[in-house]
Amino acid sequence: MKKLARIFIPVLTFALALLSLVGCAERNRTDQNADADFSKKGDVLVVYFTWSGHLRSMAHWIADEVGADYARILRKEEYPVTYNETADVAKKEKDESIYPEINLSLSDKEMERYKTVFVGFPVWWYDVPMPVMTFLKQANLLGKNVYAFFSHEGSSDGAGSLPTLEKLMQAKGAAFDKKTALSVRGSKVKDSETVVREWVKSLNIPKNEAVAVPSEITFPLGDDVSERFTGKVFFKNLIQKDSIYNFPVTNHITFAPGARSSWHVHGGMEILVTGGKGIYQEEGKKAQIIRKGDVVHIPAGVKHWHGAAPDSWFSQIVIYDAGWKPEAGDVHSAHGAEPVTDEWYANLETEDYAGRTLTEKDAFMFGNGTLFPSENFSGNVYLGDVLNAKNEAGAPGIHNVVFDAGTYNNWHSHAGGQVLIVTDGIGYHQIEGQPLEILHPGDVAFCPPGVKHWHGATAKTKFAHLAANANPDKPGVQWFDRLPLDEYNKLPTE
Ligand SMILES: Cc1cc2nc3c(=O)[nH]c(=O)nc-3n(C[C@H](O)[C@H](O)[C@H](O)COP(=O)(O)O)c2cc1C
Repeated sequence: MKKLARIFIPVLTFALALLSLVGCAERNRTDQNADADFSKKGDVLVVYFTWSGHLRSMAHWIADEVGADYARILRKEEYPVTYNETADVAKKEKDESIYPEINLSLSDKEMERYKTVFVGFPVWWYDVPMPVMTFLKQANLLGKNVYAFFSHEGSSDGAGSLPTLEKLMQAKGAAFDKKTALSVRGSKVKDSETVVREWVKSLNIPKNEAVAVPSEITFPLGDDVSERFTGKVFFKNLIQKDSIYNFPVTNHITFAPGARSSWHVHGGMEILVTGGKGIYQEEGKKAQIIRKGDVVHIPAGVKHWHGAAPDSWFSQIVIYDAGWKPEAGDVHSAHGAEPVTDEWYANLETEDYAGRTLTEKDAFMFGNGTLFPSENFSGNVYLGDVLNAKNEAGAPGIHNVVFDAGTYNNWHSHAGGQVLIVTDGIGYHQIEGQPLEILHPGDVAFCPPGVKHWHGATAKTKFAHLAANANPDKPGVQWFDRLPLDEYNKLPTE
């Protein structure tokens, strides 16, 4: 540190002199405006701290590029007006690890919907300014992808700030790679819009179209595929067919209110409703209202359409017929051939789906399940059947598994491998010898045949997933010991 200080001091002194000169002008630019916009309801958040305004510009370009919510971190008690005084206060905070109070506090519930968090700051005394540390310490970042962007006047590699973030993100269970961080010199910020936007593009974060999605839609939206439908529709592949799991292609589709497919025909399909209120109609029959937890079996060759109700978002998992090969000219490969017209949609005769098995008491997406006493779990676990082994898609049977907070299972292996689709809460999955995965609704975890893994809830949150034992011709499960409780207790939690 001493050596670093000596190398940096000339640069910093120069920068400081510069800053003191421009201090007043810069300072005037930085008001105490919270500068927050949480209206987009997307899954990306940009938080930033600024003293003289550079980070505000960078944060706005990032938020605009990706359609993200953004918020500024402000120290509750303002820093002094002059640079020199601010530098003194900042140095004391850093040296004495003082976490100043800040204006921005996002509850666990508010943080829940963000998958990606951008954190922006000026390098201060070779490190992360302490107000940013206050925010990062308080916020639930478990399982989030975190990207850093910073500005400096000489510490172009961020000096100690990136190692500081790396250590903290590891402790908080967030994914962070300091190699992806963006560094822009303070004096260059005003000309860096293209650089900043190109950096965001290079991270390949799906552009969020600032869609206001209600909280009942918990799976990530994925790509906008509206051109193949009527209305706004989003698509995310969950499972690709491969030779390890031999699981049929499985996707997740989200429809905005009023959005719908055309009439179409394909091989057998299973639909598992994940949120909202939707409509399913087979040719010649009344339209069925389907809701979270419903499972709809569509036999091969039955002409039908599906989509959202006019007043509700709707989302569903679709499992395609394992053996279906669309032929050229197939209606399924030409969605839109026979649209469900506005007139048809407005005059639908509907009835509640007769196959509904869930009741008001079922808090979890596919039901609360029935208590399943087992020595292989550290606490209470509840099971339910979602899809029989004999189904229209030719998929393996699917079960619902609900874990009380703090419950997890022993190490075990499945002869045919296992696929888990997370439906509720926050949980863990770990394959032997591999890093811990932190799971949120919509995540899919895979464990190959014969390989040991364990899964379960975090210490604080109930958790549920769908579970399918892949390759049902190899049904065996072998149980081993459990991850010791003191090791489980050391895992990052929300
Ligand atoms: C208190 C303080 C400490 C700073 N320490 C450093 C430093 O250690 N290394 C560096 O390169 N720049 C340092 N700077 C310069 C800022 O990082 C740089 O001017 C940045 O562009 C300011 O961003 P902002 O306009 O968003 O506040 C410091 C600035 C201040 C105010």
